[in-house]
Parts: sequence; C-alpha cells; structure tokens
Amino acid sequence: MKDVIVIGGGPGGYVAAIRAAQLGADVTVIEKENLGGTCLNKGCIPTKALFKNAEMVHSIGTMKEFGVNLEGGFTIDIPQIHKRKEEVVFKLVDGVRRILNSYDIETVYGEATIKDRNRVKVQKNDGETIDVETKNIIIATGATPFIPENLRVDHPGIMTSDEIINFDNIPKSLVIIGGGVIGMEFANIFHAMGTEVHVVEHNERILHRLDSDLSKRLQAHVKKQGMKIHNNALVKELNPQEDGSIEVIGERKGKELKVDCEKVLVAVGRRPNLEGMNLEDLGVHHSPRGIEVNENYETNVEGIYAIGDVTGGIMLAHEASHHGIIAAEASMNKRITHNGSTIPSAIFTSPEVATVGLSEEEAKAKKMDYVTSKFMFGGNGKALAMGDTQGFIKVIANGDTIVGVHIMGLNASDLIHEGVLAVSKGMRIDDITGTVHAHPTMSEGFAEAVLGLKGVSIHALASKKKKSKG
Ligand code: NAI
Repeated sequence: MKDVIVIGGGPGGYVAAIRAAQLGADVTVIEKENLGGTCLNKGCIPTKALFKNAEMVHSIGTMKEFGVNLEGGFTIDIPQIHKRKEEVVFKLVDGVRRILNSYDIETVYGEATIKDRNRVKVQKNDGETIDVETKNIIIATGATPFIPENLRVDHPGIMTSDEIINFDNIPKSLVIIGGGVIGMEFANIFHAMGTEVHVVEHNERILHRLDSDLSKRLQAHVKKQGMKIHNNALVKELNPQEDGSIEVIGERKGKELKVDCEKVLVAVGRRPNLEGMNLEDLGVHHSPRGIEVNENYETNVEGIYAIGDVTGGIMLAHEASHHGIIAAEASMNKRITHNGSTIPSAIFTSPEVATVGLSEEEAKAKKMDYVTSKFMFGGNGKALAMGDTQGFIKVIANGDTIVGVHIMGLNASDLIHEGVLAVSKGMRIDDITGTVHAHPTMSEGFAEAVLGLKGVSIHALASKKKKSKG
C-alpha cells in the first residue's frame, strides 16, 4: 500500500509528491498528460516565453532613443517562437521528471478514478487498467477554461488559452472576451506583435480585483499603447462569417457593441476539474466551484486532500504548490510549514503589475485607519537609466503596520517580494525605513514609498506638510 497517491502532476501535485517523499512517504503521481500541468505546459511558463517576445518587440520601438539604429525593420518567425517556447517547457518538465525520479516517486501516466477512500483506478495511457491502494489521496486535478453556453461556437478562430498559446499566425484583429489575468496577458502579447486587440470586459475596469490605482493606470497605459478596451460590456453572441471572420455582438451600457475580427479568445475564468473524482459517492463536500477543504487541505473525508485550482478561488500556481506542501505534511502527520495566507500575484502585462495584501478598497471596506503612499518610478535612477519609468509602488499601512503593497512597473513581479515579506510578517514602517536598500535599484522605490507613509520620502519634492514631519 502506498502512503500517498497524488492525482495530477501540476505545480500543486508534483510539489506535494516531492514534499511527501522528503518526509519518507512511498508516493505515486498519476498524470494523464504531462508533468507540470497547465502552468508548465499551457500557462505560466509558455506565456512567459511569449511575454519575452512581446518585450523584445517593445524594445525595438525604443532602440533609437538608446542610439541603436535598426534600419530595414524586422520580421517575426512564428515557428522559431514556438520552438524556443517548447524548449523552455521541455527543460522544465524534464527537470520535474528527474526530481521525482531522484526521490523514487512513481509516475503513472493515465486517467485516475477514485474508487474508495483507499483505492484509485488508473486507465493507463498504454491501455492497461490498474488499481493502486493507498493510505492518503491528494486531489490536484487543476482547472480548465470555462466557456459560457452562448460563447460555445465551433469555429477554429474561437479559442481559449489552451489553443491560442500555439497560434499559427499573427491575427490582424483579436477580440478578447474577459479583461482578467489571462485576457490581459494575451492582449499584451498579441498587441506587441501587431494585432489590433479589443478587450471586452464585463466590469467597469480591467483586472478589477486589483487595487483600483493599479487597474485604472494600467488601463490608461494599454489604451495609450493602442488597445481598445470596452468596459461595462457583455458579449452575447459570436457569429462566424462566410469569409472566415467572426462577428462579435455584445451590449455596452444599453447599446449594441459590434466588432468584426479574425480571432476570438474566450478568457472568462476557469472551472475545477472534478470528473472521475467520484466525490458524490465518497461523500466529499464540493460544489461546481471546487472541493471544500480545511486548513490542512483535507476534505471532510479523512485521508482525502484537495489542493490548488480544484479547490476554486483565485487560481495561482504558487498557491497550489503551497497547498501541496501543507497537505503532504498533514498526510504524513508532520505539520512543519506555516500555512501562510499572504499570497502575492504577478501579472505579465506591459508594464508588469504585482500585488500583495489588502487593496485600498479592501482596507476601506474593513474600516481600517489606513494611510497610503505612492512612489513614482519617474523619480528612480535605475528606472530612468533603463528607459522605463512607467508606474509606481503603492504601500498601504494600518496604523504603523504594512498591510498592502501594489506595484506597476519594470520587474514588478520580482520587486513584490519585499512587500510579501513585509505584509506576511506584519512588519512596521520603521522595519523598512531602517533597512538600507542598494543603489541604483528599483527596490529603492519600495523604501521611498514606505518613507512616504510618514511624509519623509527623500527623492520626492517637499511639501509644506512634509517639511514639518519627524
Ligand atoms: P479572471 O477571473 O481573472 O478574469 C475573467 C474576466 O472576465 C473577469 O474580469 C470578468 O469580469 C470577465 N467576464 C466574465 N464573463 C464575461 C463576459 N461574458 N463578457 C465580458 N467579460 C466577462 O479569469 P481568467 O483571466 O480566465 O483567469 C483564470 C484564473 O487563472 C484566475 O483565477 C487567474 O488568477 C489565474 N491566472 C493567473 C495568472 C497570473 O497570476 N499571472 C496567469 C493566468 C491565469
């Protein structure tokens, strides 16, 4: 009998398997496609490879300013883009395979069905069917793109993120339904490569879960870059035309919205993969939004755990991995890792945005006695030297304690981690202001933003109010 069977080899599942093996467990991972799951194969990693392409094209536009002349223009080699992207993916997937092997973790390729609390049936990809017995099961089956009924149209030009990632041409025009994370990351990629991009977003702003300072400014930036953002709009129908194009019909503030385009990306959310988990018969509490779990990611049925996207909520790879560690430790009765509830998020638009902790709207809703401070990258030496001064770092404090950090700008996805430490450890303003930041770095902006909470930023113009501060 195995100690742990992990169903799904994504960043939740493979991390859980490794952690359980580190604690001495005999582990089997069952994966129906590729190790690495959505993140490595269809999501975070391949889109970041494409994000780099977008960045390169952006930088070509600014080369003259840097004294580099690229006369004669440039061309885009789509097969080479995909070749590079696939090489990146292969290296990572192969790396995961080698790590699992090094821990003697068995990987079975096939589709799992939970038969009972201690037995999992696997219809292996090679045709054989096996039963595996286990003390614990960790469900890490992830999620797939959700397509509402009215947008389920069979047409090669109407895609989800799963298909568009392997695009075979750069469309002249693309309508993206949903201005959330997936929608805006692809909007950035295709806009950079010359596509006319329309984003239709139901909410009054794109990325509406972010602090409104971030989402409003990002929206202004992308509009300035030339993207068409249709807020407060709902797509109702997709009508394929005889010439292969697609007519997108929607409604915006009571009026008809009509856009003709070559391709459509439906990016309105993802749904947990619950099929085959036999949850009804097992009596595992769940809803179509996900499986219910406790603080150890254990379901109401002892020994059955669920982690990552299949538990619903905001679906992030790093959150799934964190769940995996906690669930693996709990299944081995060795809880060691602190269950951190501070989960950052990084979104790869141009400029990048990253966030942790409370937004100003959330602080307001909690009736906190909060203060905010913002440091603009226009006043940062490194940003100026890099020729990328867009954006800012905004810090929110509840009294003296830092509760939220929101960044828009160059390398925001890396800069956020000082904020993650500050928020997760409940650091105070003076913990940061007394910490020396290297010069010249973008990180200095964080120290400046925190100083600004006391009205004493150094690289910001003095105001009468600020002059009197201690
Ligand atoms: P999302 O929930 O982030 O965004 C979907 C958007 O579509 C929402 O803004 C919603 O208002 C809008 N919408 C819904 N129905 C609509 C309609 N009929 N017409 C117009 N707009 C409509 O979902 P998304 O972007 O599909 O991402 C799925 C999950 O994957 C999210 O939980 C996200 O956090 C995660 N993810 C995170 C990434 C990151 O952190 N970098 C990257 C990719 C995905």
